[in-house]
Amino acid sequence: MDPKTSDASARLGRDFIQDPYSLYLRLRASGPVHPVTIFHGERVWLVTRYSEAMSLLLDRRLSKSQPSIAARFTSAEAGPMTLPLFNNMLFSDPPDHTRLRRLVSATGAFSATAVAQWRSKIAWIADELLDGIAREAQNGPVDLVSTYAAELPVRVIGELLGVPARQRNEFRAHVAPMVTAIDASELATANAELTALLTRLIAQKRQKPSRDLLSALVAVSSRKDHLSHDELLAMVFLLISAGYETTVNLVGNGILALVQHPDQLRMLRDDPALIPTAVEEFLRYESPVNTATLRLTTTDITVGDTAIPENELVLIALSAANRDDRQFSAPDALNITRDARRHLAFGYGAHYCLGAPLARVEGEIAVARLLSRFDFITLDGDTPLRYRDSIMMRGLVDLPVHLSDRHFNSRHSA
Ligand code: HEM
Repeated sequence: MDPKTSDASARLGRDFIQDPYSLYLRLRASGPVHPVTIFHGERVWLVTRYSEAMSLLLDRRLSKSQPSIAARFTSAEAGPMTLPLFNNMLFSDPPDHTRLRRLVSATGAFSATAVAQWRSKIAWIADELLDGIAREAQNGPVDLVSTYAAELPVRVIGELLGVPARQRNEFRAHVAPMVTAIDASELATANAELTALLTRLIAQKRQKPSRDLLSALVAVSSRKDHLSHDELLAMVFLLISAGYETTVNLVGNGILALVQHPDQLRMLRDDPALIPTAVEEFLRYESPVNTATLRLTTTDITVGDTAIPENELVLIALSAANRDDRQFSAPDALNITRDARRHLAFGYGAHYCLGAPLARVEGEIAVARLLSRFDFITLDGDTPLRYRDSIMMRGLVDLPVHLSDRHFNSRHSA
């Protein structure tokens, strides 16, 4: 079947990026799955209800294999999909997926116990960033995305993997276009630079291993038949990009949600023990990853009353599932006391986010430290909110706020 089609009912364009929820509300009301068009006009099947989203995330009849999905696009349109760095566990099926995932899991780096040991380091990094932010805040509004939400995860994953501090910004400059760039030459440059950076870093770890995740993975790759050089590059790229590009949205969207709901912000200040449930609610209410990665039907399937033929693209809208009123009462309301843990923000099934324990701890600490540092956080009314140009990621371009503590206020009103 031709993937380019005009029968699609909706196009996921700029309006959708600013506000996906109105479309999701309409679509959920009329059925669990709908044909829509994306990017260059390809038709995909968008899944918007919770129960079907969960079943399809578990469904082995959907493939995530990078070569099969890339083959659905012309070479000019396939963009990052054809690059070897994307040939990683997120874009693979069993048995490769199982083998690759097991290799990282075996290092234990992302277990809840290992992550708990990072708490004090993460808090230290947050506090250091907040020191700088407090100084900047005396001169006017501060953008909490660039100074805090983006900076914290970059430093944390850098520490965990063992990326030297001086290389972190270089990585960041090239990771962002890999995830969001549409321009082919920008993508090619980012890919070449990243491959060179990763190759050099891996050579350094091979020569001089230390107690970090990258050294552990390099050690695994030295054992024959475990992990090829290309697989190692792709794995490290995945960990860096997942670490850089997602948690920023949890922190940014979470802070925005609180600032826009002063009653919830007050409740959290009055009872900081609510932080873990608040973070689950941020993940549900404004999910950092809007849609899961593309999947491909390997056979004819039926979703609700809709027949989807073999070799069709399926896009599971995690944010839509997380606002399905069949699953969550008053789903469009932020309620930091609800039990939101069954949200699908980290996916579900075999590809369930490996970094979820780390992301949760980062989110908790980022919000808790910010609130304990500043008594007043208000949006800078002069700057309209803008979301990054991506269907998959739900994140703010910037979040300008005014910050002050009681101390500062009393000094200035005296
Ligand atoms: C709030 C932050 C995060 C969110 C919302 C998030 C969300 C997700 C989602 C939805 C998936 C599955 C995608 C799919 O099935 O198509 C996923 C997979 C993955 N995530 Fe995360 N993630 C976050 C942070 C992290 C961090 C910090 C890391 C580690 C550095 C990480 C590593 C991974 C990896 C390795 C996979 C692939 C797992 C697999 O294919 O088996 N994530 N993430």
